[in-house]
Parts: sequence; structure tokens; C-alpha cells
Amino acid sequence: MKILVTGAGGLIGSAVVAAGGSGVVGLPRAELDITDPDAVAAALDTHRPGAVINAAAQANVNRAEVEPDRSAAVNADAVSMLAAQCAARGVRLVHISTDYVLDDPDRELTEALTPDPRSAYARGKLAGEQAACRLGATVVRVQWVYTPGTRGFFNLALSRLAEGKPLSVVTDQIGRPTPASLVARGLLLAARGGAVGVYHLACTGEASAWDWIAAAAQLRGLPMTATPTTRARLGGAHRPARSCLCSDRFAETFGLRLPDWRTALEVAMAEPQALLLSESSVSRTS
Ligand SMILES: NC(=O)c1ccc[n+]([C@@H]2O[C@H](COP(=O)([O-])OP(=O)(O)OC[C@H]3O[C@@H](n4cnc5c(N)ncnc54)[C@H](OP(=O)(O)O)[C@@H]3O)[C@@H](O)[C@H]2O)c1
Repeated sequence: MKILVTGAGGLIGSAVVAAGGSGVVGLPRAELDITDPDAVAAALDTHRPGAVINAAAQANVNRAEVEPDRSAAVNADAVSMLAAQCAARGVRLVHISTDYVLDDPDRELTEALTPDPRSAYARGKLAGEQAACRLGATVVRVQWVYTPGTRGFFNLALSRLAEGKPLSVVTDQIGRPTPASLVARGLLLAARGGAVGVYHLACTGEASAWDWIAAAAQLRGLPMTATPTTRARLGGAHRPARSCLCSDRFAETFGLRLPDWRTALEVAMAEPQALLLSESSVSRTS
């Protein structure tokens, strides 16, 4: 089945294209702006995919707070339009969402929890996933995604440590770091699998941002010279203090259970391509 990936120049979109092989067509923003209905229609009618993985987003949480309408145009309105266009053609849509639509530090986050979005980014993403669900899409919520050597907070932090530049890392924000290559594998299974509804996909265990960057620095042989800080001191948009997605439903439905975050980090840092190729770091549960 042919799979079309929107936002293919981004962190997750590029990982899906890398993991997907020849049946996957990636369209970066320059080739498909998902806010343009005519461009979306043309892409669907030209490529005639069996499924679309929507990795396009305005993913900057702080910018969404100051530009909520621009953020919602991509993260909500465009998703609704994309989902409608896919549904009209019988094309399956797998839409990526975020743990930030939930906010409950006291428990593992299952799909059954009532959303509690506390930032403009989270509200926009929730509106997008609800519109997608109404139109029969599969929504996969992910969190703390990274690829060694590419964009994002993870690489920015390691670059600053390597260059001896100042870096502050929060100690009071906890989550489940998950390599983009593993997320990509799950998204491809969801695109080929066909179950609809909301699913969570993340590694297991839990780490503060400090634990995560310190572990990565150690694996890379860098001194952890960052300054510990707190979310309140750092400022910016609200983030959940502890956010740990429970991925049982995904494993039961699609047969993929991701490893502990630290195991995944060790493999990803040792050999970034290994997570694409090796089955040993993940378990197929069916
Ligand atoms: N990374 C994480 O830790 C994480 C966590 C939870 C959820 N997610 C979700 O995962 C998805 C992918 O995020 P990501 O981390 O891969 O972010 P990313 O690296 O910023 O990728 C998003 C891509 O979408 C593109 N884009 C923006 N507006 C667009 C438009 N109108 N039409 C087409 N493409 C557009 C961006 O292009 P430009 O760069 O040119 O703007 C970028 O290439 C998002 O839905 C995000 O909410 C990510």
C-alpha cells in the first residue's frame, strides 16, 4: 500500500520516510502546504495513496502561545480539512498528536482519560485530533521524540554541551523519551493496520529532561555541564509536570511494544540506523 507522509521534512516525518521504504512518498512543506485545500486535493489525486500519515504541524509550543490562530490553522483547521478530503476518497488517515492534550501527573496516561489541554498548542492539537477522529482517522499520541543528530531540543542540548556553551535543563518535567525511528515504525504499522481511534505510543520507564540529557551526554562522552533549572524558572508555555503515555492499547492492537527509554537511547546513540533495522530492541506482541 502506498503511504503519503505530510510534513516529511520534520523530525517525525523524515523518520517515517526513512523507515518506510519505497512504498512511502514524503512531501515536505515546500511541496505540500496542508492548509491549502487545493494542494491537498492535488496531492491525494496525484499520488493516490492508501493511507496518509500527517506529520505536518506547528510544533513550537511557545510560539503557539503568542500566535494561537496561526498554530490552530495548521494543527486543527488543516487537520479537519485533510481528514475530510481523505475520508471522501476512502484514504486512511493516521494523524500524530501529543501527550500535552492530557495533564495528570499522578497516573500513567491511558486513552480513556479526559483531555485537559493547558496551552494554546495543546488546545489546537486536541481540536485537530477530535476532528480527525470524527472523520474516522487513527490518532497516535507521542511524546519526547528525538533522533540523534537532527533537529529538536535533544540535539540542541547535546550540541551546546559539546561546544561548552551555557545550557539550562529542567529537573521537574518528567516524560518518556522515545526515538523517532521507533515512533515511525509504529506509525507505519498503524497506517497499514487500519484500526481507528486514539492510541498512545511511547517508550516505557520515566525520565526528567535532566536525566535524559545527562544519560545522552554520558553515552557521548560529554561532561554534563548544564545548569539544573525548573519549568517555572525557565518560563514559556505550560507543559505537563509528569506525562507518561501508557502504550498498552497500541501494543494490543498493532503488535508493537517499545522498550524502556534508556535501552532505546543506548541503541539510538550507538547506531541511529539500528532502531530501523533491528527487531531486538522492540517486541512484537502478536
Ligand atoms: N517531537 C516531539 O517530541 C513530539 C511530541 C509530541 C507530539 N509531536 C507531534 O508530532 C508531529 C510532528 O512533529 P515533529 O516533532 O516532527 O515537528 P517538526 O520537526 O517541527 O515537523 C513538523 C513539520 O511540519 C511542517 N509544517 C509546518 N506547517 C506546515 C504546513 N502548513 N503544511 C505542511 N507542513 C507544515 C514543518 O515545516 P517547517 O519546519 O518548514 O515549519 C515541519 O517540517 C506533530 O503533530 C507534533 O505535534 C511531536
